[in-house]
Amino acid sequence: MCGIVGFVGSEQAAPILLDGLARLEYRGYDSAGVAVVSEQHELQVRKAKGRLQALSDAIHGGADLKGCIGMGHTRWATHGAPSEVNSHPHVSAGGKFAVIHNGIIENYVEIKEFLISQGVRFKSETDTEVVAQLLEFYYHECHDFFEAVGRVLRRIEGAYALGMLCADCPDRIIAARKDAPLLLGYGDGCTFLASDATAIIRHTRDVAYMEDGEVAVLTADGIRVYNALSQPVEKEHHRIDWEVSAAEKGGYQHFMLKEIMEQPEALRRAIFPRIRDGKIALGGMKLTNAQIRDFSRIFIVACGSSYHVGMIGKYNLEHLLHRSVEVCLASEFRYSDPIVDEHTLVIVISQSGETLDTMAALREAKKRGAYILSIVNVVGSSIARESDDVLYTWAGPEIAVATTKAYSTQLAVLDMIGLYFGEVLGTVDPAEYGEVVAELQKLPEKMEALLGRCDDIPKYAAEYFNHNSVFFIGRNLDYALGLEGSLKLKEISYIHSEAYASGELKHGTISLIEDGTLVIALGTYAPLFDKAMSNVVEVKARGADVLALTTESHAKEMAKTVENVLTIPDTARLLLPSLGVVPLQLFSYYVALQRGCDIDKPRNLAKSVTVE
Ligand code: M6R
Repeated sequence: MCGIVGFVGSEQAAPILLDGLARLEYRGYDSAGVAVVSEQHELQVRKAKGRLQALSDAIHGGADLKGCIGMGHTRWATHGAPSEVNSHPHVSAGGKFAVIHNGIIENYVEIKEFLISQGVRFKSETDTEVVAQLLEFYYHECHDFFEAVGRVLRRIEGAYALGMLCADCPDRIIAARKDAPLLLGYGDGCTFLASDATAIIRHTRDVAYMEDGEVAVLTADGIRVYNALSQPVEKEHHRIDWEVSAAEKGGYQHFMLKEIMEQPEALRRAIFPRIRDGKIALGGMKLTNAQIRDFSRIFIVACGSSYHVGMIGKYNLEHLLHRSVEVCLASEFRYSDPIVDEHTLVIVISQSGETLDTMAALREAKKRGAYILSIVNVVGSSIARESDDVLYTWAGPEIAVATTKAYSTQLAVLDMIGLYFGEVLGTVDPAEYGEVVAELQKLPEKMEALLGRCDDIPKYAAEYFNHNSVFFIGRNLDYALGLEGSLKLKEISYIHSEAYASGELKHGTISLIEDGTLVIALGTYAPLFDKAMSNVVEVKARGADVLALTTESHAKEMAKTVENVLTIPDTARLLLPSLGVVPLQLFSYYVALQRGCDIDKPRNLAKSVTVE
């Protein structure tokens, strides 16, 4: 969740750190701080509560802090409220060590009590401060920075990506990783540390991903990496192949809008290379046809919007494979004693590839013998690396906290998995297979056309932005789509919103419908259109204000009952949510804009959830 960046070289560190933090701010944004080692070998630490701009202003864009080695942090608070004192870097009582951290030190209370009993005085309420204090404590014993780090790592429990500076060793940063992302960057006469590549891509594309248990020593001359036994490790280098501009706003007011607009192109990258001569070709996938036939159970495991993709996947995969598919929230799956064995396929979905609950669920499933096939956006991320097979979505960097293009591409990849498996199993009707493949190829174009004619959405947003509560209703795929529409709206506009399977309304929820309640009625799924209409009539009869979403071919019918109707192009039934999500994303965006919300960085959220 928090963002980490570090630099060692011959240029001034502070402006590089601030620039890196600006690109990482989507990971956490309640406070920020930097530590730079001065030429006199002093640790200069500055922090500020609130957005990064406050820190940047306080140090005049970095000009106030001279020195060529340093590290920066942007925080998403876990332990201790957002405040200057709780923000990172944390400095040890004797002033020798500065530490930045992403993750949670689970046994910090016990360590803190021990250190207090030794006379150490703490300043913050954070778990991270124990690392700085413990480093100093062990350093007094061994007088060796690297050794002190080793002792700290053996003592702490939990998840961490750590960056550590020691005033006595002013030429280096030591980094350590366990269950939280951290990568190393190799520049010309300089080296970098970062939570993700966006922070350093302006300086280098040559990176290596740290593994759990590894410790890295960064100096201007290079990076030495050691495993948990302190043995040197040769790291494999990777080249970041996307452009800097992909992680910039490019003239849009918000990343979210830019990413919504990028969806057709992202879909082209996700779909086109995977269709050859009218057939799905999942190049690079290691799963054999024999393995696919052998699976007796299929799970889809994910969090948030990725879970909503899984909900749609459940309907589509069950239809294509004639097998039951269980879709589970990763945070529940990991503790549910799931019935998983070596005949189980677990499809893990994650944009970031770093979501802690999803990662833990993956490990649990793997431990029980399952085969892990993941759908991931961030290349080289932890989930991608720990899976038996990975299919990348190739959506490019997604910066807005609210996911859009990652959702669409995950959906497309999952549909392609369904088609591919369905053919192997002989369960998919060849005519439907042909239709869906053809429609997948048309999807980017249809989405482009749809994006080009969504001009009425700002008008509806202006009409409805003052509502306090919204219900999304739909059946089957429309219900699953409603879950995503509802999450989008609540996360960026802070309007209370719920999604219900329309058939459930009469079992309780309809009591909440009164004069003026906004109901977003999803009626794109043709086989159940008539039933969807009955539910629309029911909520209207109780005074609801209805905004409907349907296909072009059902628009006229819908308009007989509902005044405000959004339409999407017709497509294969399995792919309707892929188009249906676009107006819902735009509606949330424009509602949030009307309400003056911070769209790309909604309150209390962060892009990548690396804590439980
Ligand atoms: O990176 P992941 O796909 O694993 O993230 C899962 C959720 O945290 C994520 O989809 C979240 O719900 C989005 N912010 C929703 O827009």
